[in-house]
Amino acid sequence: MKNTTRRLLAAALLAAAAHAQADDTFRPGALWPDDKGVHINAHGGGLLEHDGVYYWFGEHKVAGEAGNVAQVGVHVYSSRNLTDWHDDGIALAVTDDPASDIVRGAIIERPKVIRNPRTGKFVMWFHLELKGHRYDAARAGVAVADKVTGPYVYQGSFRPDAGAWPVDVTPADKDPATSTLARDHAGGQMARDMTLFVDDDGTAYDIYASEENHTMHVSRLTPDYLRSAGQYARMMPNGDDEAPAIFKHGGKYYLVTSGLTGWAPNAAKSYVADHILGPWKALGNPVRGTPEQQKITFGGQSTYALTLERNGCTRHILMFDVWRKMDAIDGRYVWLPVEWEGDKPVVRWRDRWTLADLDKLPCDGPKG
Ligand code: DGJ
Repeated sequence: MKNTTRRLLAAALLAAAAHAQADDTFRPGALWPDDKGVHINAHGGGLLEHDGVYYWFGEHKVAGEAGNVAQVGVHVYSSRNLTDWHDDGIALAVTDDPASDIVRGAIIERPKVIRNPRTGKFVMWFHLELKGHRYDAARAGVAVADKVTGPYVYQGSFRPDAGAWPVDVTPADKDPATSTLARDHAGGQMARDMTLFVDDDGTAYDIYASEENHTMHVSRLTPDYLRSAGQYARMMPNGDDEAPAIFKHGGKYYLVTSGLTGWAPNAAKSYVADHILGPWKALGNPVRGTPEQQKITFGGQSTYALTLERNGCTRHILMFDVWRKMDAIDGRYVWLPVEWEGDKPVVRWRDRWTLADLDKLPCDGPKG
């Protein structure tokens, strides 16, 4: 084939790929081309709506198994309709400074961005692991930007809530011989899989897998959203939860998580609470479908819940990652609308769907 023909063919394929997505349709699990025709690279991600535009932040992965450690940084995309995404580039870049926590080869997972109305700053939190130390550091990393797409400036990392006991502490929790919580009391609590949540009053929370991944914590942030404030709760003690995705509906808090099987999918779990600091009550597996779909959550693991106000109805979309451990860049995204079974949020597989389909779902759900 001549070079010109090859170039024309490549351009036609790119245009076709871009066109394939330009129809307001979500295709869970399929390749999801951005405005350049390249599969979106924003894994373990989260969304932020700002001035009518949605921003999708996620881990930029590269090919192969080595793509699971940070080689590039956090990628950001923007969209007005949630299906067509413009590539806004790298929001937080790794460095080549070996003294930096975010040196190339560190682990940067599940980045989430919120905007602080008091300071006007965009604040990114993520799960940070130090280069060459596997998952031992278990720290929260924080970066800040003046502009939503960045560049984000790294502020540092820490284990949350050093020196503080949870609001629901028991005498047994304080025994360092048997309790991980007590072991980590002075230095701060382990913080792995995470998400952020901003409540209606502007108070923000970090929700993360702690205590060697056995117990999730919900931890209030300081008013500037840059640190943990020292007020936190253990969510599902010894529940073995990770991959938190949280949303609020009818005044209650709903949480979807996974079990602990590394990059392999497992059964999702869901919980409800009247107060964000708990107590949290189990609602069971939110996946509806075949036993296999329920067992492996459509091959995905939860990462974020997006809330939309549409025609007087509060709707939610649950986002999952289908990880590809051996070729990280090929990881897929499964976004599905939340439906209600009484007071339980549930998701069903759909090969394709649109926001118009979301609008057709009953606007019921539990009331506050
Ligand atoms: C599961 C987590 O949810 C992912 O974010 C990642 O940390 C993998 N484990 C690593 O095995």
